Amino acid sequence: MAKLKVAILISGRGSNMAALLEACADGRVDAEVVLVGANRPKAGGLETAQTAGVPTAVVNHRDYADRPAFEEALHAALVASGAEVVCLAGFMRLLTDGFVSRWLDRLVNIHPSLLPSFKGLSTHERAIEAGVRFHGCTVHFVRPAMDAGPIIAQAVVPVLQDDTPDTLTARVLEQEHRIYAEALGWIAAGRVRVEGERVLISPA
Ligand code: GRF
Repeated sequence: MAKLKVAILISGRGSNMAALLEACADGRVDAEVVLVGANRPKAGGLETAQTAGVPTAVVNHRDYADRPAFEEALHAALVASGAEVVCLAGFMRLLTDGFVSRWLDRLVNIHPSLLPSFKGLSTHERAIEAGVRFHGCTVHFVRPAMDAGPIIAQAVVPVLQDDTPDTLTARVLEQEHRIYAEALGWIAAGRVRVEGERVLISPA
């Protein structure tokens, strides 16, 4: 059977992207990364992707008059790559309903908190301030509302008394890399189905 074609969208260093590339390269995930796209020409992850021999594209949001025009160009690049599934990996642009519905249940995101807690930015600082004992990360299908959508995978990490945002970030990031690859593996194996707000994973 043909491998699932995946595009990854980034805005920055792309450590999650690198984890997905590695998992596809070593066979943990039966998928082919056909494109790494960035909305920022200076995204560090672009170089990582190029070194790995993966096609890259920059669709700079600053080059477009408005969000729909930017998204039209992004959509065109994704379609041209042949991508069937799109993974957002530190992609820092909000996507409109129009874009999201075109990729419904084929658009995946990783967020550094246990959703639905701590949507948005600075999740680690906010988790420490809130005094929660457990924090973590979530891989989910994207819906128009920010950091919302059916949850595919989560990982939990304890919040330690002497944690700083940096130490907590590092501990969560390690789990992000693990569960994003695992979740994409399930999708690539055709084991994932969305039912209402829930994601059901069929046995291997
Ligand atoms: C990750 O923590 C991701 O969950 C969040 O932004 C960060 C991106 O890191 N959305 P990287 O670019 O994957 O290294």
